[in-house]
Amino acid sequence: MFMLRFYTAGESHGQALLAFLSGLPAGLPVDVAAINHELHRRQLGYGRGGRQKIEKDSAEIFAGVRHGQTIGAPLALRIENRDWANWEKILPVEASGDPLTASKKLVAPRPGHADLAGSQKFNFHDARYVLERASARETASRVAAGAFAKQLLQQFGIHIASHTVQVGHVRLERPAKWDEILAVCADLESPLRCVDSQIQQKMMVEVDTALKAGDTVGGVFEIVARGLPTGLGTHAQWDEKLDGRLAQAVMSVQAVKAVEIGSGILAAGSYGSEVQDEISYDKAARKFKRSSNRAGGLEGGITNGEDLVVRGFLKPISTLRKPLGTADMVTKEPVQAAYERSDWCVVPAGGVAGEAMVALVLADAFLQKFGGDSLAETRRNFEGYGRQIDEF
Ligand SMILES: Cc1cc2nc3c(=O)[nH]c(=O)nc-3n(C[C@H](O)[C@H](O)[C@H](O)COP(=O)(O)O)c2cc1C
Repeated sequence: MFMLRFYTAGESHGQALLAFLSGLPAGLPVDVAAINHELHRRQLGYGRGGRQKIEKDSAEIFAGVRHGQTIGAPLALRIENRDWANWEKILPVEASGDPLTASKKLVAPRPGHADLAGSQKFNFHDARYVLERASARETASRVAAGAFAKQLLQQFGIHIASHTVQVGHVRLERPAKWDEILAVCADLESPLRCVDSQIQQKMMVEVDTALKAGDTVGGVFEIVARGLPTGLGTHAQWDEKLDGRLAQAVMSVQAVKAVEIGSGILAAGSYGSEVQDEISYDKAARKFKRSSNRAGGLEGGITNGEDLVVRGFLKPISTLRKPLGTADMVTKEPVQAAYERSDWCVVPAGGVAGEAMVALVLADAFLQKFGGDSLAETRRNFEGYGRQIDEF
């Protein structure tokens, strides 16, 4: 990140999750209900475990916002873990000999988790310390910080939404329209946030089949950002190319194993004439246009004014009710992997976490180009650049 600094802290069953965000301009109106709405969206989805039902996340703002707006100071947020009362004796901050601690020790590392590699690296014979932080519960902090990034971008007409394009073997084969994506995002009852109800039914059967078999399913979420100006990111330096930055951010979401921009995967097996988006100039509108958007809104690592389209590919959840084989970290004997209460499909929630990461990267690139110390200064810079594009 160049302008925004963002990091998170907190364990899955610790007292709270924390997020710190610094670099937002002063004078940005803050809608706390909208932050909590995003946190709620992250908890939804068909195929989630029991924890989402017992916890309703909400963020408390401790710093950086006064009288409903940012003041140019670092933001500090806290999301309480409502299950803390049940974990206080298991994960106390102080040294303790409480027998409950031993009862939650995890020595049978789960394949596909950070359990074994993390325990070896940090030299614990208890994967509890590792899994508590590796858990995707951490995405709640990202979603809260991302909600601020979204609120900044919305000030400039930029909106971000996501939907589910694949669950297990069932895939939405047609492109989704922006209005459909917005509708399915607004529908909190939508089980998997897929824009096609018939495909969604089939996706739900995939989820049910996995559950019955003690198994899990992965899938693909698609994030679309509309309203971006041409010119965020740059071709000039490898680490400032926006495609690379977005890929890293989305890939960092737990269980995401591949990221696609536009029709990147299909493009690799196509001819060049089938892949590029031809350019024309609309004299009446005095605007350059593209015949299609296979590039997904990015050329040379720079936004080109089309919709930004990023897909995250999630592997199936690693914790299985029908456990896989593993080796005990202490005895080294073969055992079954530990089972912790777990989700079995998280594609819609992964999409919400992905939206937050895309929002943070876009807000950072936006501030790199237009950032002022106040929202008013940022707006002046943005409008001045808009005139340059209009006159180009
Ligand atoms: C929203 C979300 C919820 C998740 N919930 C679970 C879960 O309940 N059980 C599980 O085993 N993995 C879950 N994961 C995935 C793991 O956190 C992840 O696979 C693990 O930390 C290893 O990291 P890696 O897959 O990125 O290598 C979830 C991921 C996301 C995005």
